[in-house]
Amino acid sequence: MNFKEELTEYQIFINKELDKIINKSDVPEKILNDSMMYSLMAGGKRIRPILILATYKLFNDNYSYAIPFAMAMELVHNFSLIHDDLPGIDNDDFRHGKLTNHKKFNEATAILAGDGLLNLAYCTISKELSNGIDTENKIKAFAELANAISRMIAGEYLDTELEGEDISKETLEYIHQNKTGALLKASAKIGAILANAKEDDIEKVSKYAEKIGLAFQIKDDILSEEGDSKITGKPVGNDKELNKCTYVRYYGIDGAKEELRKITEEAIKEISSYGEKAEFLKELAIYIKNRNK
Ligand code: IPE
Ligand code: IPE
Ligand code: MG
Ligand code: MG
Repeated sequence: MNFKEELTEYQIFINKELDKIINKSDVPEKILNDSMMYSLMAGGKRIRPILILATYKLFNDNYSYAIPFAMAMELVHNFSLIHDDLPGIDNDDFRHGKLTNHKKFNEATAILAGDGLLNLAYCTISKELSNGIDTENKIKAFAELANAISRMIAGEYLDTELEGEDISKETLEYIHQNKTGALLKASAKIGAILANAKEDDIEKVSKYAEKIGLAFQIKDDILSEEGDSKITGKPVGNDKELNKCTYVRYYGIDGAKEELRKITEEAIKEISSYGEKAEFLKELAIYIKNRNK
């Protein structure tokens, strides 16, 4: 199987599993559940859960054990996107080529849909924790997730509050590493922890993921500057409009591309000792660099 086929296979599998999570029955709060479903199934690339499963597979074959964590991570990610688009944060009207949650439903529903998805993530894991197998690793993985969510929220706060400010290179990197890098780094760590990888292996994949996490947001900044909104499904030029602290604003478009290239190369180097076994993770780093959506 080549990289593209493997990626698609993961995406199909993840979509099928995610589709089972939200209550579809005719309860009084059905519209709230529909709004969660609307965003969750809108067409995300599923990079974070894929990273959990693929990292798990680097150390252990049967990843069924990691599925609840992969689901939880994608639920959290979708919570972050719904809130990111709200009028008080980025004020965006389109995502995945569709109306954003608050535009399709309303602001109160979007806020609560975000809260609902975040909490569903914890519900999904808590069911898993109670089955009593390998509890220690599961608690470690749970702590990674919870901590990464705090980092993401801190990053979103800084990204919003520092709009228009002249910030240092260190602060820019700090924002990116938190708002976007934290969930990606935690994804790789969670995969490795659940697969019972050794400390130095956890360290290696975590360094790899820290780099692709930063690369992921640099590419997002580049796409916000010169992407095709018909392909990205979200507005182009929105970072500039809000005078966001981005790599493109700091380094210029060519400088941002150079940073992206450098960091991707460094990420690949971190996992080179695994050889063929890490081929998918290597291709994933390249995919993140080259993606057009
Ligand atoms: C977009 O993330 C928001 C960032 C953290 C940069 P993705 O590009 O992974 O979002 P989807 O889920 O694939 O749309
Ligand atoms: C989103 O960052 C980060 C999170 C949602 C945590 P951006 O605001 O740069 O991402 P897009 O471009 O709206 O997807
Ligand atoms: Mg934002
Ligand atoms: Mg945004």
